Amino acid sequence: MADDYGAVVALDVEHHRGVVDQRLFGSFVEHMGRGVYTGIFEPTHPTADDVGFRGDVAGLVRELGVTLARYPGGNFVSGYDWTDGIGPREQRPRRLDLAWRSIETNEVGTDEFMSWARSLGIEPMLAVNLGTAGVREAAALIEYCNIAEGTEWSDRRRRNGAVKPYEVGLWCLGNEMDGPWQTGHMSAERYAAVAAEAAKAMRLVDPGIQLVACGSSSHEMPTFGYWESTVLEHAGEYVDYISMHAYYEEFDGDRDSFLASAVSMDSFIDGVIATIDAVAARRRTKRRIDISFDEWNVWYLSRYPGSHNLPIDVAGPRIEDVYSTVDAVVVGDLLSSLLNHADRVKIACLAQLVNVIAPIMTEAGGPAWRQPTFYPFAAVTANARGHSLVTRVVAPELGTRRYGDVPVVAAAATHDARTGDTAVFLTNRAARHTGVELRHANFEGWTVRSAEYIAADGRGPRDRLAAADVWLTPLATDTSADGRTTQIMLPPHSWTVLSVSTGGAA
Ligand code: AHR
Repeated sequence: MADDYGAVVALDVEHHRGVVDQRLFGSFVEHMGRGVYTGIFEPTHPTADDVGFRGDVAGLVRELGVTLARYPGGNFVSGYDWTDGIGPREQRPRRLDLAWRSIETNEVGTDEFMSWARSLGIEPMLAVNLGTAGVREAAALIEYCNIAEGTEWSDRRRRNGAVKPYEVGLWCLGNEMDGPWQTGHMSAERYAAVAAEAAKAMRLVDPGIQLVACGSSSHEMPTFGYWESTVLEHAGEYVDYISMHAYYEEFDGDRDSFLASAVSMDSFIDGVIATIDAVAARRRTKRRIDISFDEWNVWYLSRYPGSHNLPIDVAGPRIEDVYSTVDAVVVGDLLSSLLNHADRVKIACLAQLVNVIAPIMTEAGGPAWRQPTFYPFAAVTANARGHSLVTRVVAPELGTRRYGDVPVVAAAATHDARTGDTAVFLTNRAARHTGVELRHANFEGWTVRSAEYIAADGRGPRDRLAAADVWLTPLATDTSADGRTTQIMLPPHSWTVLSVSTGGAA
């Protein structure tokens, strides 16, 4: 039993929630601020490749373990004409982007992005513009990407250097169409109709694609719930996923609530699952709809001055949040929430990848470095394999202003039955040490390979040049002689990853 000073986390090797889809470890590359230009792409950088992509950034993206990238937006996509970004670079137009009040030079477009993603083994997730464009433009883009040859757009792709089709399998039907800030924002009814028609046309071009309909831009949207049920009611038959977006920040120094952000993510996900299933029951359909949580992160949105107050510039900085170890602990805990919903959340994207609320930062012409949030994400992508296990947590509670009483300890775990590799992720939301007894009685040969933590110890990003800085610190663990339990003392406000080798079920 848990007492005032400790918690119990019980795992059962045979009790899991579902396979951890590797698409859970996605990220997001938007034409926004310095995300693309001087972010992933900088032809004059000493490490740039033939196309112009930075090699130092590519190395960090590999290390981060990103499996999928959503592109090209975000709010940007709702004003984007994808045809501006193809063909000879010197002929591409400079356009005013209304979402972020930037001048888009179009030096990077679909072909360049695809070459970057391919070189890193990253699956592309392309978004179509349903704000200021529509069915015709969406169908044409799929024709450009996925038809082999013999049509206007497929032959244009071939002339532009890509002889083989890209075979992009995953597509977003617009972005945050429920948000009044979105160019081309619409009602749930209208979006449902437009999304259904776009989906039909896109599938006629390529029946093999998977489609993501826009869900709510946040849990706090006044239309949350109504939006999802309306969209699924009218477009559910044509889509495979509904999206979720959520950003978290610390308000008014309320650290306890901030550290419990994953509780809010849990309830948001549970609400969307309930809505998907309620609509499916009412419609008597067996069609499976899962969740694409394609924007999530810590973002100090309350500091954003608003798009109207931005200067019009080329790749000027936008929302370059500087993260601390507190933010890293929250990011780790949010990853646990996603893993704990692995049966229904099949895609997720840390928003974003470089410079814009990002784990990777760059200096134009200079170095690239990791923010503290890089570390929990990289630790999860390196360790979470196989199935997501059901974790039973018995822990003392912590009173929070925003979310009421929450358990001080949160846990997620994965187990790969083939290799026996097991990973346990633990968050201590308390401002003091919390002892955890990990119960794992039916795992054979339980051996902790490593345990490491990151604590919200007040450190901010260190010297940007200290790119090889170590932020995860080793933590002692004590496994009982019979191999049934492990004791761990979690540091205050911390997130821990245990890498364990096992032989599988006893
Ligand atoms: O990630 C930044 C912005 O946040 C995206 O463009 C938009 O979709 C969301 O509101």
